[in-house]
Amino acid sequence: MTQDELKALVGQAALAYVVPGELVGVGTGSTVNHFIAALASFKDRIPGAVSSSEASSERLRALGIAVLDANEVGELAVYIDGADEIDPLGCMIKGGGAALTREKIVAAQARRFVCIADESKQVAVLGRFPLPVEVIPMAAAQLTRRFAAMNGQAQLRMREGLPVVTDNGQHILDVHGLQIADALGFESQVNQWPGVVTVGVFAHQRADVCLLGAPGGVKTLVF
Ligand code: A5P
Repeated sequence: MTQDELKALVGQAALAYVVPGELVGVGTGSTVNHFIAALASFKDRIPGAVSSSEASSERLRALGIAVLDANEVGELAVYIDGADEIDPLGCMIKGGGAALTREKIVAAQARRFVCIADESKQVAVLGRFPLPVEVIPMAAAQLTRRFAAMNGQAQLRMREGLPVVTDNGQHILDVHGLQIADALGFESQVNQWPGVVTVGVFAHQRADVCLLGAPGGVKTLVF
């Protein structure tokens, strides 16, 4: 099975966690795109979705699924999203698609986080995947020095010669070389550095369930 087939498998399996009659929180990325496609068959049973990116909103609307503003709704039953890495406690690195801030906001609004990923995303310790951090541009150099002091090499994410600009108008640092054993402590520490909008460690908003796509089928991990 290809990696994309594994992503499609878990995207479809996540439908079982959507609660009929309730709004669903929808993440961002290639795995979630499979979930959005599957959600089309379920759209008459939900009032709509709260989305974590312009890209996902566009896909949802194209399929006739209403997208509601997070400020206009209360708690969500479930948030479904991918991950770049997931550790044995359900803590994740996210933000490979630059949508981490809105992902964390929608995740925090949901009762349950269901992570969907292919099994290559499972790690013992977070950090092999460069950690995305959304930052206020004027703080980038200062934050790069702070990460260097903990042996992390931060690089400004670029596309076609220009810094990537997020849906929130900010920049992304990708930090290489970290080993994040204490994900909760690390998230709390980096969150309070001036200029950090969001750190891509999801420990306070860790997964409650992870559907991992493997050649033998979907493995369900409950944390
Ligand atoms: C988006 O910013 C990310 O958090 C994604 O959820 C993550 O990068 C997983 O992406 P894929 O599903 O494309 O692997």
